[in-house]
Order: sequence, then structure tokens, then C-alpha cells
Amino acid sequence: MKRPVAQFAGLGAYSPPKVLTNHDFEQLLETSDTWIRERTGIGERHVAAPEQTTAMMAAEASRQALAEAGLAAERLDTIILATATPDRLLPSTACDLQALIGATNATAFDIGAACSGWVYGLVMGESLVASGAGERVLVVGAEKLTSIMDWTDRSTAVLFGDGAGAAVLTKGDGARGIVSSYLKSDGRLAELLWRPGGGTVCPPSEQMLQDRSYYIKMAGREVFKNAVRSMADAASRALERAGLKGEEVDLLIPHQANLRIIEATANHANIPMERVFVNVDRFGNTSSASIPLAIDDARRAGRLTPGMIVLLATFGAGFTWGSVVLKW
Ligand code: ACO
Repeated sequence: MKRPVAQFAGLGAYSPPKVLTNHDFEQLLETSDTWIRERTGIGERHVAAPEQTTAMMAAEASRQALAEAGLAAERLDTIILATATPDRLLPSTACDLQALIGATNATAFDIGAACSGWVYGLVMGESLVASGAGERVLVVGAEKLTSIMDWTDRSTAVLFGDGAGAAVLTKGDGARGIVSSYLKSDGRLAELLWRPGGGTVCPPSEQMLQDRSYYIKMAGREVFKNAVRSMADAASRALERAGLKGEEVDLLIPHQANLRIIEATANHANIPMERVFVNVDRFGNTSSASIPLAIDDARRAGRLTPGMIVLLATFGAGFTWGSVVLKW
């Protein structure tokens, strides 16, 4: 197995305190706790306060990651922020985050890869550390999905939640960290999961709010099939690059979109559910924040111990997907 170059020096996570349960949704939409649980595995999700921005949540998670790394924000050289819900279209939310945490010596930029964004950022961060172009890289996934969610559409509104997760990457001693990765995209399928309005194709207008094109739209069944196929494929390719088999994975931490997608992906990868981490029941789909939130949750639950082989697998709008093998 390849010796890892980049390692996690610190991790952090943030979930807003307000929780919305499936029963709360029963009061808002024609839906039921039973339907949501059976089709998605989701029981509740965290919802940001109106005044809370994506950058503010990112800052909470980042401060924790920096504290664990024992690093002052000024010492960061790079901030990569993955989000599908930027605070503004211009400038980047990464620059807002930089200002909030006082990372005055960093280069800061956003990446847009939807739910796969944090995993994309992790691979970019690893490349910077491996090449020597970056020494202390902050990789953040942060989302206020409830701000672009159509609260009148029961087929999407019940799926999403808000939050942020962060990691500080540094060069390690080769004992732990990122072993291998695989990333892929396919822009031909964009319309199966998208937010059509607000950009150059469909500039802001009153019409956009009336026809709801400002909000997320999804062809659920098609997304489901593509998610399983793509995550399973990425997982097997990342494992192959690491010289490992599914049986050797101690813990799969997949993107937390839907329990049935997670089960099908684990099945394809030959990993029993006892070795899969699931928290979609408590968080819903937090897009780019989902995997770093799950990693933080898994270690708090005592599911991660040194030396473990951990497999990350993700899928999102674009379509984008990918997988990372970690030695914990
Ligand atoms: N409550 C009650 N009924 C509902 C709800 C709801 N919240 N949402 C949809 N329904 C109804 C539909 O209207 C439909 O009713 P009809 O038969 O009378 O027309 C019925 O349930 C079945 O609808 P489907 O969309 O076919 O249901 P499906 O079994 O496919 O489940 C779901 C829908 C949960 C969205 C599923 O397709 C799915 O999980 N897809 C993947 C979605 C996902 O996880 N996306 C994110 C991954 S990528 C990323 O993270 C960005």
C-alpha cells in the first residue's frame, strides 16, 4: 500500500442547533414520517437560522479544526471551500471565511462540485501538500441548503439539511492520511439534479420565483441509480489504486444522501453494513458538508481507531463523484 503524504492535522464540524423533524414536515407538506424514513432513512435535519450564513458555519467548523491542529489561522497558506450554497455569487465564500477566521496569509477559493465538493477539495489539498505548493491547507464543506430548497416541493424539501465540516491537511510521516483517490464528472446529466435559475442562462427575474427555477430540482429515481453506480465504481477504483479490496475496508463513510443509496453502494463494494457509518437519520443530506460531518461524528462515536482503512465515497450534482482511501 502506498505511504500517505498528506494527513489530517485537525478536524471540525458544525451543525446549527435548530432541528426539524419529519413530524415538523407533516405540518408543512403532504408527507409523513413513515414515508420519509422508508424512502430515505432520514428522521431529522439541522436548519440554519435566517441570519446564519454558509461562511459563518464554515468558520465554526474551521476554528475547531485549527484548534485541534494547534495552528493559528494566520499560518494557513490555502483555504479550499466547497459549497453549492455560496453566500453571494461574487466574491467567493472562501474569502468570506478567510476574513471571518483571520487567515490573512492564505490563498482562498471556492470549488463547485455539489455534494462531492469536500472530497474534490480533499484531493486538491492533498496534491498541494504532496507537491509542496501548500503546507497547511484548510478544506471545508459548508452548506445552507435550506436557503435554495423549495419548501413547497415534498420530493426534495424533506431531503436536505445545513452544516459544515473542515479539515486541516499537512504533510505527515507516512503512517496515516490519504492513500489513494479517484474523481470523475459527467456534465451531460446536469439536468437530473440542478438549480436552473439565477445564473447567466436564466438571470434573476420575478418569473424565476414564480416557476420555482430558483430552487433545487431533482429527478429522484435517475439520481438514485446514477449515485449507486458511480459511488460503487469510484470506490472500487480508489481501492484498486491503493492495492486493497472491499473486504479490507474497516469503515466506509459514504455521502449521507439516502440510506438506500448507502446500502446499495456498500453491497456493490462488498462491505457489510456493520462496517458502514450512517448518520443521515440525524442530519439529512448536507451536500458538501456530509462526509466531514460524518467523519467527525464517527470518531466521536468511537468508530475510528488508528490504523483503520477508511473508504470515502461521494456523489453529487454535475454529476460529480469520487472516492478516497484513508489510513486512519
Ligand atoms: N412524502 C410523501 N410522498 C412523496 C414525497 C414525500 N416527501 N416525495 C414524493 N412523494 C410521492 C411522489 O409524489 C410519488 O407519488 P405518486 O406515485 O402519487 O406520483 C411517490 O411518492 C413516489 O415518488 P418517487 O419520486 O418515484 O419516489 P422514490 O421511491 O423514487 O423516492 C426519493 C423518492 C426518496 C427522492 C428517491 O428517488 C431518492 O432517494 N433519490 C435520490 C435522491 C438523492 O438522494 N439525491 C441526492 C443525491 S445527490 C446529492 O446529494 C446532491
